[in-house]
Amino acid sequence: MSPAMSVSVEINMEDEQLESQYQKGVRHLCESGITKIPRKYILPISDRPNSQKGDHNAENLSIKLPIIDFAELQGSNRSQILNSLAKACEEFGFFQLINHGIASDVILSMIDVAKRFFDLPFDERAKYMSSDMRSAVRYGTSVNQNKDGVFCWRDFLKLSCNPLSDVLPFWPSSPVDLREAAVNYSKQTKFLYVMLMEAIMESLGLVEATKDKNENESLNELMEDGSQLVVVNCYPSCPEPDLTLGMPPHSDYGLLTLLLQDEVKGLQIQHEGKWVTVEPMPNSFVVNVGDHLEITSNGRYKSVLHRVLVNSSKSRVSVASLHSLPFNCVVSPSPKLINEANPRRYKDTDFVTFLDYISSCEPKSKNFLESRKLT
Ligand code: OGA
Ligand code: NI
Repeated sequence: MSPAMSVSVEINMEDEQLESQYQKGVRHLCESGITKIPRKYILPISDRPNSQKGDHNAENLSIKLPIIDFAELQGSNRSQILNSLAKACEEFGFFQLINHGIASDVILSMIDVAKRFFDLPFDERAKYMSSDMRSAVRYGTSVNQNKDGVFCWRDFLKLSCNPLSDVLPFWPSSPVDLREAAVNYSKQTKFLYVMLMEAIMESLGLVEATKDKNENESLNELMEDGSQLVVVNCYPSCPEPDLTLGMPPHSDYGLLTLLLQDEVKGLQIQHEGKWVTVEPMPNSFVVNVGDHLEITSNGRYKSVLHRVLVNSSKSRVSVASLHSLPFNCVVSPSPKLINEANPRRYKDTDFVTFLDYISSCEPKSKNFLESRKLT
């Protein structure tokens, strides 16, 4: 073997060892005590957090999202709040939900147990690693760790919630209170989601317009049997936060996402062509329109790109509850929103198409939604 060849073989072996380290996640990497981020996490310059043209301090641009008061939505002001809801979904694709009625101990227990899950020894967490997108529980790192060229500074725990009685035995048994906290949390967010979706359908004129009780009931059934995925995200503090992202720009696939952020900033949304930071607001949910709702509304409500920044001093935890139709349902633009002036803008889509899509390519930006657009 020539000297040059032996060097390249050594480098390959080293690369392989490193690669298997990265597969274990960012928490694990940080526990080994690093002061620089490995090459695997370094984004090309154009994808870095501060690459925004003409702005060197992207993280300083912050935004106050429209606020929707859930309690008021149930009261005599409903029609006015429905108008604000419509405006928020059209212009931002995002809003802050306050007075949501979920007891603070349900929320605090969820955040607390989530943090303790990521504090467990790696071997305990590793029991839940799976590359099967359909499994009831999935612990992992980055976005798609089998495909991503550059890794994100994020570990996650995904809990599928359909139906709860079937999936529960697969959820982590440690920390011992995880299942109880996550069940409470998923039931309460599901209820909130159903109430919000009713309001959203009403704001689109889809419920009032029919006045057909049977049709509304079948809508309710669809929503109650709908799919729910609770995703706990863990973004450890990062020695070089300007070189990487906690999550790359993406849109959420479902109808609605209810996101709980802790007090640490990180979430950014794309608004008027710029990345802006969503200021954390205590006791609220950040709610956003997903691809399926953009399709259902035939483009009136926007599924907006968002991403997550990491920071050098604080770890951040968030819990996203993603909701959509039952797995076997087809999502298509509502016929009531299509007419000559407003032709159909999207193809029909279903979960199988979506899952095939994300497992076959590196999920970048809005590719999936783009692929459903009729041109
Ligand atoms: C997500 C997401 C944002 C955050 O889980 O899809 O966008 O702040 N999370 O963690
Ligand atoms: Ni998201």
